[in-house]
Amino acid sequence: MSTLITGTAGFIGFHLARALLEDGQEVVGIDNFNDYYTVRLKRERHALLERYPGYRGVEMDLCDLPRLQALVAETRPEAVCNLAAQAGVRYSLDHPFVYSRSNLEGFLNILEVCRHATPRPRLVYASSSSVYGGNTKLPFSEDDRVDTPISLYAATKKANELMAHAYSHLYDMQTIGLRFFTVYGPWGRPDMAMWLFTDAMLAGRPIPVFNHGRMRRDFTYIDDIVAGLRGALTADGLDRYEVFNLGNHRSEDLMEMIGILGRTLGIEPTMTMLPMQAGDVPATYADTERARRKLGFEPTTPIQVGIPRFVEWYRQYHRC
Ligand SMILES: NC(=O)c1ccc[n+]([C@@H]2O[C@H](COP(=O)([O-])OP(=O)(O)OC[C@H]3O[C@@H](n4cnc5c(N)ncnc54)[C@H](O)[C@@H]3O)[C@@H](O)[C@H]2O)c1
Repeated sequence: MSTLITGTAGFIGFHLARALLEDGQEVVGIDNFNDYYTVRLKRERHALLERYPGYRGVEMDLCDLPRLQALVAETRPEAVCNLAAQAGVRYSLDHPFVYSRSNLEGFLNILEVCRHATPRPRLVYASSSSVYGGNTKLPFSEDDRVDTPISLYAATKKANELMAHAYSHLYDMQTIGLRFFTVYGPWGRPDMAMWLFTDAMLAGRPIPVFNHGRMRRDFTYIDDIVAGLRGALTADGLDRYEVFNLGNHRSEDLMEMIGILGRTLGIEPTMTMLPMQAGDVPATYADTERARRKLGFEPTTPIQVGIPRFVEWYRQYHRC
């Protein structure tokens, strides 16, 4: 089976590609290596993938439609997994046009190449828990209304689901959107809280804690996300258009996460309490029943296990 994955130099794309390659599958990976965060980390992830004979990495932007079309025509993937996007809620406040390019124009290009491809690939794509906006009914269910995003990032992810719905309906395409909930683990993202907190604690700096610590997050370990992605790539009996929550089905208190991180590092955290940030939501919590039923998704990694694994990798990576 050959899969085209976009965003393979990124956190989740790298892990999915590596898992498929370990199984002896063929993967074509696309990334534009943008400098949203350190490009070195992206190059290192990519170099690890290049070691596998089944991997073909292509430096390319999703917005380069002719090259994307040519690559799909040449490689004829059975599935396309679109993980490339401009991520990050806070960055979208100051850099809105990067989001319209990568997340809207780029995603439209993915839909168009899938629509015209022979054989017609299954399309799996990244959505986000942020589509739930300021919803207060917990846990978040795929049946809840998601018409009130509170950041442009969230709005582009909701737009992706709407665009996928139109293409599924018009062209009988199989599309599967996955709403990821705060993914963390080895080779993670330097702009996310777990990495930032670890970095600050090891440097003896206070951690910036928003909403005075009154935050809850459904933290999902990367291996569980990869299992969910693999379920989405292969599951039978799906509707033409599907959307699933991929979370750990536990809403953890942010202070508990900081406590585990501090104990694992052997450091007593110091904190700077701050107000809520624009675009952020106070709580996330995934109802994962639909993903369990249709994708066989059963997350198995609580933060008590996942955080020490992240810290072990972080220390090795930074030799600290
Ligand atoms: N990590 C999370 O907690 C999380 C949560 C919800 C949703 N998501 C979504 O999951 C997907 C993967 O996230 P991630 O954490 O791996 O992010 P990431 O930033 O590590 O990976 C995204 C990759 O896509 C590449 N990219 C961005 N724009 C591109 C473009 N126009 N053309 C080609 N490549 C491009 C980047 O260079 C990067 O390597 C994203 O769509 C993100 O929005 C992630």
